[in-house]
Amino acid sequence: MTYRKDDGIGTVYLVGAGPGDPDLITVKGLKLLRRADVVLFDRLASDELLNEARPDAELIDVGKTPYRASISQDEINALLVEKAQAGLTVVRLKGGDPFVFGRGGEEALACYAAGVRFEVVPGVSSAIAAPAYAGIPVTHRHMSTGFTVFTGHEDPNKDETSVDYEALARVGTLVLMMGLGKLAKISERLQAAGLAPETPAVCIEWASTDQQRVIEGTLATIAALVSEAGFESPATTVIGAVAALPQQGLRWFKDHEIEICS
Ligand SMILES: C[S@@+](CC[C@H](N)C(=O)[O-])C[C@H]1O[C@@H](n2cnc3c(N)ncnc32)[C@H](O)[C@@H]1O
Repeated sequence: MTYRKDDGIGTVYLVGAGPGDPDLITVKGLKLLRRADVVLFDRLASDELLNEARPDAELIDVGKTPYRASISQDEINALLVEKAQAGLTVVRLKGGDPFVFGRGGEEALACYAAGVRFEVVPGVSSAIAAPAYAGIPVTHRHMSTGFTVFTGHEDPNKDETSVDYEALARVGTLVLMMGLGKLAKISERLQAAGLAPETPAVCIEWASTDQQRVIEGTLATIAALVSEAGFESPATTVIGAVAALPQQGLRWFKDHEIEICS
């Protein structure tokens, strides 16, 4: 494995931090975090990971909470460029994988436009890790030959939604990220598009951390169960036959609260 020499020209590293458990960052991501002059981090970055930064590193919180941006994306892009142009090694630490609903592409484009060197260090995305921590393989022989990750951020009733619910209802496993508050509407849309109400569905909150909670239900019941339990972001929902596998013996992550609703 090779790393850039410190040649006085700054580089921006878009580093995936993994889904929550700090041990799930990649070795490369951790090495870069330990070398960085500046670390820009998100809401989901754990203190344990931030403690890996050099004591003299500048740590900048650019976290946004859902529906409330504390710092705009343009400001984050400008900061990345400014720090790198000052000759600094910049780590942009992002939850999960930087290129999965992480706006990492926009940050990389901003670097490119400014002539700033950048590298992408992929991370373990919660799109796969959250199901895994609930005992759900997103593909499984004879059950699901593929999976689709989509966002619940968009209003499923708006005319111009780019989410094709009819197409989603026909494919294998569905992994829904963000937009927990729209789960009821999304479930309705999927059922209206032909997905059976009894399709297994599981929602995982704070996957891979000691706060992890899991609710197992069906497409028809999951939204109400999640709302009753007071689930909040970050949470990921898996819909499809594979979401029945935890009940068949795949629950392996023991230290979490679980509600089983058939
Ligand atoms: C802005 S997206 C970022 C996704 C991230 N780039 C990734 O690859 O995991 C945030 C969404 O990721 C999901 N998410 C992130 N961390 C999670 C976790 N520990 N448990 C469950 N879902 C998580 C939730 O759906 C959350 O709303």
